[in-house]
Amino acid sequence: MRVAVFGARGRMGQEVVKAVAQSPDFEVVAQIDAGDPREPAEAAEAVVDFTHPDAVMDNIAWSLRHGLHLVVGTTGFTPDRLAEVRRSAAAAPGVGVLVAANFSVGAVLMAHFARLAAPHFESVEIIEFHHPQKADAPSGTARETAAAVAAARRAAGCPPMPDATTHETPGARGASIDGVRVHALRLAGLLAAQEVHFTSPGETVVLRDDARDRSSFMPGVLAGLRWVAGHPGLTCGLDTVLGL
Ligand SMILES: NC(=O)c1ccc[n+]([C@@H]2O[C@H](COP(=O)([O-])OP(=O)(O)OC[C@H]3O[C@@H](n4cnc5c(N)ncnc54)[C@H](O)[C@@H]3O)[C@@H](O)[C@H]2O)c1
Repeated sequence: MRVAVFGARGRMGQEVVKAVAQSPDFEVVAQIDAGDPREPAEAAEAVVDFTHPDAVMDNIAWSLRHGLHLVVGTTGFTPDRLAEVRRSAAAAPGVGVLVAANFSVGAVLMAHFARLAAPHFESVEIIEFHHPQKADAPSGTARETAAAVAAARRAAGCPPMPDATTHETPGARGASIDGVRVHALRLAGLLAAQEVHFTSPGETVVLRDDARDRSSFMPGVLAGLRWVAGHPGLTCGLDTVLGL
């Protein structure tokens, strides 16, 4: 498959160019960054976009007009934006668009496992670890995991988790996301990791996902490229691609 990379000089784009070039079933035919003409991408069959929320909608519209499949990792998608992409994709028959906020297979599997485990334990808390340059806390992934765990517990009719805390130094028990406690650590030298601790009397299960560098996203991006051409229309998230 001939692939064009949008955002090719960015942190993620450079990884994508490397990963696609190293795969025997793919070829990089265009590397486009801000200000570059997009015409070289017309030689591609699929586009990978890791650019900027301000640029991605125009890149998607352009790619669909040229009949190119799309794997989109750029973040900032609202329900309105997704609805617009769905409409545009429907007007481009046979063309597939995959939009995923997280291409880490480990992170997607962790959320899946956490949903499965959630109803079966009395207590669950999340710890996320990131580099100290990160501006937001807790991380988007931790928020999503907490929301998924809370939804699974609600659906199963689980009682509230035991917690006798009445006197708390603010922050000591972490943030409450849908009733699930999330603790955010910021430590120099780390990239990104997350642990979900499930406990019941006599038993503990800990899920841990450790992202050491941006290459961790590439198996998900390549799986998305292999998948998208055979699946017209808009697909959101890597879960479907991984068969979850
Ligand atoms: N889905 C995921 O798993 C995942 C993982 C990491 C980052 N991201 C997202 O990917 C995006 C890029 O992240 P990054 O860390 O590589 O950022 P970055 O700033 O390092 O790279 C973005 C690149 O896109 C280029 N660009 C901007 N407008 C463009 C346009 N119109 N056409 C082509 N190129 C353009 C920029 O010049 C830059 O080189 C962000 O939205 C980020 O949140 C997603």
